[in-house]
Amino acid sequence: MHGGNRLKLGLFGANCSSGRAVTKVPERWSGTWPDNLRLARMADEAGIDFMLPIGRWKGYGGETDYQGATLETITWATALLAATQRITCFGTVHAPLFHPIIAAKEIVTADHIGEGRFGLNIVVGWNEDEFEMFGVKQRDHEARYDYAQEWIDAIKLIWSDRAEFDFTGRYITLKAVRAEPKPYGGGRPIIMNAGASSTGQAFAVKNCDAFFMQASRVSVAETAGRVASVKELAQQHAREISVYTVGVITCRPTMREAEDYHHHCVVDQADWSAVDRLLAMRNITPQTVSPAEFAEQRRQFAHGNSGLPIIGDPDHVARQLIELSHAGLTGIAVSLVNYADELPYLRQEVLPRLVHAGLREEP
Ligand SMILES: Cc1cc2nc3c(=O)[nH]c(=O)nc-3n(C[C@H](O)[C@H](O)[C@H](O)COP(=O)(O)O)c2cc1C
Repeated sequence: MHGGNRLKLGLFGANCSSGRAVTKVPERWSGTWPDNLRLARMADEAGIDFMLPIGRWKGYGGETDYQGATLETITWATALLAATQRITCFGTVHAPLFHPIIAAKEIVTADHIGEGRFGLNIVVGWNEDEFEMFGVKQRDHEARYDYAQEWIDAIKLIWSDRAEFDFTGRYITLKAVRAEPKPYGGGRPIIMNAGASSTGQAFAVKNCDAFFMQASRVSVAETAGRVASVKELAQQHAREISVYTVGVITCRPTMREAEDYHHHCVVDQADWSAVDRLLAMRNITPQTVSPAEFAEQRRQFAHGNSGLPIIGDPDHVARQLIELSHAGLTGIAVSLVNYADELPYLRQEVLPRLVHAGLREEP
């Protein structure tokens, strides 16, 4: 995340069983610790810039219990940081579920272990089922971000040079706070957010270094417009923000092989019962949307729970990534059906094309 790659690449969702592909194929991602460790070492060696986990507390059910086994993200990142040299590992932290002092301490611990390579993804939550499991009532949408604002203000103060302080907010009250050590190297961990609403976006622009948004499926020009408007909003707040997106890559030697494998995984072998649960949690059902819209949403969610599909041979995949970079994106977090099986081919075929295009350095 801190290196010189003009187009940064990350792996998204490897801490969860099935990763992000809602599929029954037997080679789907296990999400186990040994596989995560193997993957992180491989990614580090390949020069991949970051690993972004999903903060998920409860599986979605279906035949595969999609994302039913998940490694908690701060502990996951901490252990991976200890086992790697260069890669940034994010923790995805639900602000309403983590007391700010505990979160600040855990993050600083991870940051010291990674010598500045820990990143924080702040999420405010949306999944009612998970909050019920905790016995925590979700605030209404706007109040979630009000709370997150206090939470991150408190955390930044805890990380600051302030020796001892009280914090009295609307939601959070802290007394005589002392916290050592401070973040590694006198800075602070990189902070990201991926709010899709205008409130979420405003929160990111005000508080974060990186913002993750959906790329357009219609055109690169539309993506470029979205990136420009986020950057413009940041400028209005006298801030600069890097903009990233999310993708799902299927790369094979020929276009035909890539399309066939994609179809096999997320159409023929999709875990449709899990897809329908995922959609129902977002209130997308045959009762709430048109049949055409429902079919389209099902298709999109099966292949990676949203994210730009990038399916093709190495030339095609590299070309799409180059176009995203030209649209102004700083990077992309991608998922693969089996991250560890598929990364070596990307490394061998796609990364050199990006080096050749001047977007990445040799690992
Ligand atoms: C890259 C990315 C990562 C995300 N990670 C998580 C996550 O791990 N857990 C979670 O509950 N929500 C996650 N989200 C959801 C967002 O944080 C956010 O809640 C969602 O986009 C809705 O936006 P809003 O809060 O502005 O309405 C993620 C979204 C994106 C695009």
